Amino acid sequence: ADGDAAKGEKVFRKCQACHAVGEGAENKVGPVLNGLMGRAVAAGEGFEYSDALAAKGAEGVVWDEDTLAAFLEKPRDWAPGTKMSFAGLRKEKDRDNLIAYLATFQ
Ligand code: HEM
Repeated sequence: ADGDAAKGEKVFRKCQACHAVGEGAENKVGPVLNGLMGRAVAAGEGFEYSDALAAKGAEGVVWDEDTLAAFLEKPRDWAPGTKMSFAGLRKEKDRDNLIAYLATFQ
């Protein structure tokens, strides 16, 4: 919590090779990240998720500050078998700021 969205925009550079957000965003290597908060995991339109992430969604797991922070810290620990090839964001501040930034795209 308590993230700074403007700082989070800079952290999002680490994600941009694979993800787009905002108006007109399209799926890339990874899904569009608009409207995540409160939405089931792996529910983006027109994106083919791994079984690992799809299973989370089927279990009823929803994206919020806590689940996003856990996934982004160590994606492969939180969702073993995920096809998101990203080591994770080690710094809590980076995670908080990034999540505040993503929350502006509801
Ligand atoms: C999935 C965020 C970096 C590729 C996701 C999801 C989130 C996310 C929230 C799940 C979306 C949903 O449930 O609809 C981020 C953030 C990043 C980042 C914030 C930077 C800090 C990357 C990078 C890549 C990538 C660098 C590519 C090398 C993917 C892929 C998926 C995914 C392929 C689908 C995973 C699966 O189905 O297992 N990402 N991501 N992401 N991301 Fe990322």
